Amino acid sequence: MKQFKRTTVTSALPYANGPVHIGHLAGVYIPADIYVRYLRLKGEDVLFIGGSDEHGVPITIKAKKEGVTPQDIVDRYHALIKKSFEELGISFDIYSRTTSAVHRETASEIFKTIEAKGGFIEQESEQYYDEEAQQFLADRYIMGKCPHCGNENAYGDQCESCGTSLNATDLINPRSTISGSTPVMRTTKHWYLPLDQHEAWLRQWILEDHKEWKPNVYGQCKSWLDMGLQPRAVSRDLDWGIPVPVEGAEGKVLYVWFDAPIGYISNTKELLPDDWEKWWKDEDTRLLHFIGKDNIVFHCIVFPAMLKAEGSYILPDNVPANEFLNLEGDKISTSRNWAVWLHEYLVDFPGKQDVLRYVLTANAPETKDNDFTWKDFQARNNNELVAIYGNFINRALVLTHKYFDGKVPALGELDDYDKQTLNEFAGVKADVERLLNNFRFRDAQKEAMNLARIGNKYLADTEPWKLAKTDMERVATIMHLSLQIAANLAIAFEPFLPFSSQKLREMLNMPTFDWADLGKTDLLKAGAQLATPELLFEKIEDDVIQAQIQKLLDTKKANELEARKANPVKENVAFDDFMKMDIRVGTVLDCQKVPKADKLLQFRIADGMGERTILSGIAQYYPNPEELIGTQVCFIANFEPRKLRGVMSEGMILSAEDADGKLVLVQPKAKVADGSEVK
Ligand code: MF3
Ligand code: ZN
Repeated sequence: MKQFKRTTVTSALPYANGPVHIGHLAGVYIPADIYVRYLRLKGEDVLFIGGSDEHGVPITIKAKKEGVTPQDIVDRYHALIKKSFEELGISFDIYSRTTSAVHRETASEIFKTIEAKGGFIEQESEQYYDEEAQQFLADRYIMGKCPHCGNENAYGDQCESCGTSLNATDLINPRSTISGSTPVMRTTKHWYLPLDQHEAWLRQWILEDHKEWKPNVYGQCKSWLDMGLQPRAVSRDLDWGIPVPVEGAEGKVLYVWFDAPIGYISNTKELLPDDWEKWWKDEDTRLLHFIGKDNIVFHCIVFPAMLKAEGSYILPDNVPANEFLNLEGDKISTSRNWAVWLHEYLVDFPGKQDVLRYVLTANAPETKDNDFTWKDFQARNNNELVAIYGNFINRALVLTHKYFDGKVPALGELDDYDKQTLNEFAGVKADVERLLNNFRFRDAQKEAMNLARIGNKYLADTEPWKLAKTDMERVATIMHLSLQIAANLAIAFEPFLPFSSQKLREMLNMPTFDWADLGKTDLLKAGAQLATPELLFEKIEDDVIQAQIQKLLDTKKANELEARKANPVKENVAFDDFMKMDIRVGTVLDCQKVPKADKLLQFRIADGMGERTILSGIAQYYPNPEELIGTQVCFIANFEPRKLRGVMSEGMILSAEDADGKLVLVQPKAKVADGSEVK
């Protein structure tokens, strides 16, 4: 393996449109922090870069909703996120932001360099435009009916009801969320990164040269590459972002996924204005991106292609992306407030940063999606941190104070059991290192915990409190070795549980420490004075956990109430417009399921003039369609006929739809003549 001189570690820049939650932490920031702390402890040259991602459409939408500027939004969340990371001990060398001046300059420069080298293609395309608001509409600004499930409030990029990702042009009856008007198609020009031209080297670089990447990362890259890469637009028609720095690009900004990863570089520059380049351009630098799985394509394909096109940068050596963490069985969601928010945790559990760090690492979604539950949080705290680690430390220190006035006793003759115990723990350093080097943080932490298990068992088996009456020399040896194990724990856990390690080091009077010391049994000298012991961890009681569970139940309830709320009323229509619709009553003569179309029912209707066929997407709510025969329905008689599944549908049958999308036919309560008009 190549020997590097230094490591640049980046962690995904979180969007500054909401606070950070446990999913972000488990997937990205805690593993990155563990890794960086480990390298620092080994004395390696490492830089840990973080920052807020402050551009993109969702930020503008949130601003609009609150009636404030996008800058107000990002100022608020950048400050909140930065502070909460600090409190959790995420040890960034810099945490800056993509609205900084350095960043605007850096991103513009990189764009210009690529442009000058002919690294972009310019292409015109048709995009939705809001004539009232006089602006192009990002997909998120367009709503309409989902062609898959019929949800009336699907977004132009995704239907949140059925989860399908969409193009704005897929929506039925699109409307602008800015003005409510119907958008029109208009031609616009954008800059594209021709990823297709980068495919060959990307294939070689990832699929051949980086077979060691995690299977989830490698697999996702492979499937992207196998599908064939397409040019990707790197500009947008939007007024929030970094202006496209070329002439003739008025009103256009860099696409957020173009500027955001450059933020890693800008933030390095901001930290080291004179010395940043070696962290990004020297072949002896190892670049690592810590991210979540939804960011894989951007960090393994798009950003490397940008850097390659620019020409003077190194490429990542590894991208240890994680899967997702769920919360109590449900997908974490910012919009549904289904999350454990870091800033709230820090208030609800003061001084318990390490408990969260421990649980999220123990449960890290390294190879598959995982679930966080409050019960598991409590169990891991009480049964592992308190009962194993904390208990061992407490016994070792309290007994030393009791029998030796808090001074490290001298080591005597080792017996076979002592030697066996030392043997067991001799392998821990190599094991933890191997696991950390492979980004296997859960298992690495488990190994560190094993050290505490070994210590606990040693004390339980040797029972120094019984020997104290007869053999103080033996007690001295046992306590001496136990304290050495305690000192080892302070080192081994530093990357994972830095607050507890610091506390433990203070109790042991261990001012300096070093990863290389791990495994040594002479870390504390005989005669050295220890400080007064304190508990490293405290039991978490049921009522505390219950309160957190209740908070989530309240969220669930609020969401259900919200879901039952009716949609906002559409734009007013004039009387004449209403009168254009010809709504009639007719009697169902026949009604059947349409073969191979789960949702459709085919009606034959007596309409007072004759008969007509109408298809309607309500099959799932009328499992016995024949029961409708003889009843009357309402339909739009002058709805433009259209072909569905090869059948001409001559009208539209009216149903009422609730917020869950459940449909019920609108039917007259008393029988009226077929063909009667509804007004
Ligand atoms: N803000 C993005 C997200 O939360 C991540 C950006 S990572 C960077 O998914 F590379 F663009 F910085
Ligand atoms: Zn849908």
